Amino acid sequence: MRAAVVTGFGEPDVFELRELPDPVPGPGQVAIDVSHAAVGLIDVFVRQGLYKDREGLPLPPYVPGLEVAGTVRALGGGVAGLRVGEPVVTLSGTGADGGYASVAVVDAAMTASLEGTGVDPASAVAAVPNAATAYLALTEVAHLGRGERVLVHGALGGLASAFPGMARDLGAAEVVGTVRRASLADARASALPYDEVVAGEELPGALGERRFDVVVDPVGGRVRTDSLPVMAPLGRMLLVGNASGDWEHTVPTNALWGGSLAMLGFSIGFYLPSHPERAASAARAALRAIGRGLVGIAVQALPLAEAAEAHRRIERGSVGGRIVLTP
Ligand SMILES: NC(=O)c1ccc[n+]([C@@H]2O[C@H](COP(=O)([O-])OP(=O)(O)OC[C@H]3O[C@@H](n4cnc5c(N)ncnc54)[C@H](OP(=O)(O)O)[C@@H]3O)[C@@H](O)[C@H]2O)c1
Repeated sequence: MRAAVVTGFGEPDVFELRELPDPVPGPGQVAIDVSHAAVGLIDVFVRQGLYKDREGLPLPPYVPGLEVAGTVRALGGGVAGLRVGEPVVTLSGTGADGGYASVAVVDAAMTASLEGTGVDPASAVAAVPNAATAYLALTEVAHLGRGERVLVHGALGGLASAFPGMARDLGAAEVVGTVRRASLADARASALPYDEVVAGEELPGALGERRFDVVVDPVGGRVRTDSLPVMAPLGRMLLVGNASGDWEHTVPTNALWGGSLAMLGFSIGFYLPSHPERAASAARAALRAIGRGLVGIAVQALPLAEAAEAHRRIERGSVGGRIVLTP
């Protein structure tokens, strides 16, 4: 198979396109002929070496890529409910590697069929994994209730942009997004079901008297602590990333008991492998929201050989959707 290999931690030019042996599925796994592999900020952080000491994440040389779409190529032992040739997409519980390749092997439990959904593979890999993550974070962790208000930071990012649609599907009364630069907001946010998008630097004033039951924060840094005053009593903040790269930021925990607030972390890659039984319902919820037109993320496709360019674009920021690689 063809694969884009990270040959060492460092700058994007560590990528090399290589021919590797085709991987073979073991028990409970499927091999997929990959048509589209998603690229995420987490892939960039791992390639930069930020997580090099974290157990369970790959060391060079490795093939990055958490999520793929394509067709089933072969079934491992004991796999039922999928057939060779079936169009599928995977969720993000498959480990941090293997996707940037023409063949990927993943756990069958993390594989959802696209048959009959009408969702094309590029859109599926761009939206389904993040929408499934949003569903699990909002239901199992934040316990979003019908009629509640939701605030989403970094509102147009790959992960964040799945939240307004999932929150609406779950009955949220109002969903507001924040972005770094207000000038970007109007054009790009129009495809997403936000009630309003405001500039993060104008918090908390731009939100007036509104108080939010759930805050979704994949950004971290200052916007995280600036959110505390706009949370309703018993509000829950979902900590789902650190796109700001501000790894030193700390939170004044006394503000939490004072405001009756909770901060809850969630990481799909470390959650789903221990709860594989949750994957199918999350994928169904994601596909339902996509089918309702609630998760409309823009997709940029690049050839697999341009994996380094994909990472450079993400490092520059403002991709405004998701990049997918085509092997
Ligand atoms: N918890 C999980 O299960 C999970 C799953 C997937 C991803 N993640 C994490 O979520 C984060 C986002 O990943 P992604 O793939 O969605 O990335 P992405 O598509 O690159 O989006 C990042 C977003 O954050 C915004 N941003 C970056 N720096 C900012 C700052 N200093 N202030 C305000 N906004 C800022 C960007 O805004 P601009 O457009 O202005 O650059 C962009 O909208 C990463 O930390 C990733 O590791 C977590």
